[in-house]
Amino acid sequence: MKVRPARKRDFAGIKQIFELAFTEEYQRREVNIVHRIEKIESLYPFVKVLSLFPNPYQHVFTVHVLEDGDKIAAMAQVSPRNQNRTRWHIDNIAVHPDFRGKGLAQGILNGVFDYYRERGALRFTLEVDVANAPAIKLYEKLGFRRYSTLTYSKLSAKKLAKFKDPEELVAPEGLRERQAGDTSPIWELYQDAIPPYIRVVEDRSEQDVALTPMQQGAEWLKKSLKRSQALHLVVEDSRKRLVASLDLFAQLRSLPHVIQMTVHPGHGHLAEPLLKYALHQLATVSLNPVLIGCYECQRAKQDAIQATGFKKLTGDFLMVRDTLEKLELPTGQEALQSEGFFNPTVNFDKHI
Ligand SMILES: CC(C)(COP(=O)(O)OP(=O)(O)OC[C@H]1O[C@@H](n2cnc3c(N)ncnc32)[C@H](O)[C@@H]1OP(=O)(O)O)[C@@H](O)C(=O)NCCC(=O)NCCS
Repeated sequence: MKVRPARKRDFAGIKQIFELAFTEEYQRREVNIVHRIEKIESLYPFVKVLSLFPNPYQHVFTVHVLEDGDKIAAMAQVSPRNQNRTRWHIDNIAVHPDFRGKGLAQGILNGVFDYYRERGALRFTLEVDVANAPAIKLYEKLGFRRYSTLTYSKLSAKKLAKFKDPEELVAPEGLRERQAGDTSPIWELYQDAIPPYIRVVEDRSEQDVALTPMQQGAEWLKKSLKRSQALHLVVEDSRKRLVASLDLFAQLRSLPHVIQMTVHPGHGHLAEPLLKYALHQLATVSLNPVLIGCYECQRAKQDAIQATGFKKLTGDFLMVRDTLEKLELPTGQEALQSEGFFNPTVNFDKHI
């Protein structure tokens, strides 16, 4: 059996596998996965053209399949997670229930590793629910190692309504819209806020945090079509250094809003007011549920997430598999110690 990139005629099989494997998981995230695949299928000629050159939608449906006879038995969806494409992420992998336990998951993943290794991949990453024992076993067998955990939380639309007209809303001092010259300071913030054992896996560079004209164009288009509205904010301290960034993706239709927030570990007190401000902004756009993710090391952010009424959706292990380049990852104990370093209890200033 051969692993190959998916074609239009594979949609029915892929949709069935997705439906059988992931409906529940996506429902928790308020996403109708079957509807989303049908949408991609109906737009397939555009999706195909967009897959041919770099743009924000290039990998919206980069799927590989494994056939048994004329039936799609397994599928794996992947996307690059850095601009120089050394890190590829396994977004979804599933085997049709009739074909499980026969080595097909291993087969399709090995095919995917070979395919992207030939195209410059140095490592593969993935997120797996901490409760998904079969998948964790599969990944460990294939050489994946855990490097962190990520928690996803959801705020219901009802709870978001409370942020629409709050009794008191104080925007954090120094909050402003992101500007063109903010890329370097945001890159510095990322390096200060994210521990080295995560950065070494993420393998990002400054261009990964840039707001590209292509991305801005896509956001403008979505806003014009009344689909979603993006807002990019930063917080400056008194010395004009960026100490937090906030990216809001407000949905104007049925999907959940998404918040991305990074706070400098020395300015953890900003996390809660910033999150409340974000929720107020989203509530004024529409009363949809809100999703947010948080690494285990971001304690101030996690506390703010709890304090504002979010409920935990899932806890995922983040895993990495090296191909050409062997990463030195800390053991669990060392990771905990370095977390302590990145979560000081007093404000610290890296220039002092
Ligand atoms: C997880 C999944 C992809 C495994 O597919 P599969 O083709 O049955 O897996 P394979 O036959 O290639 O098994 C490879 C290894 O994975 C592990 N594994 C697979 N299924 C397992 C199970 N039910 N229990 C424990 N370990 C399991 C074993 O280590 C196995 O090796 P072994 O047979 O030598 O013990 C499949 O169960 C699936 O589609 N699940 C639903 C979707 C999903 O959870 N995807 C992962 C999301 S992150």
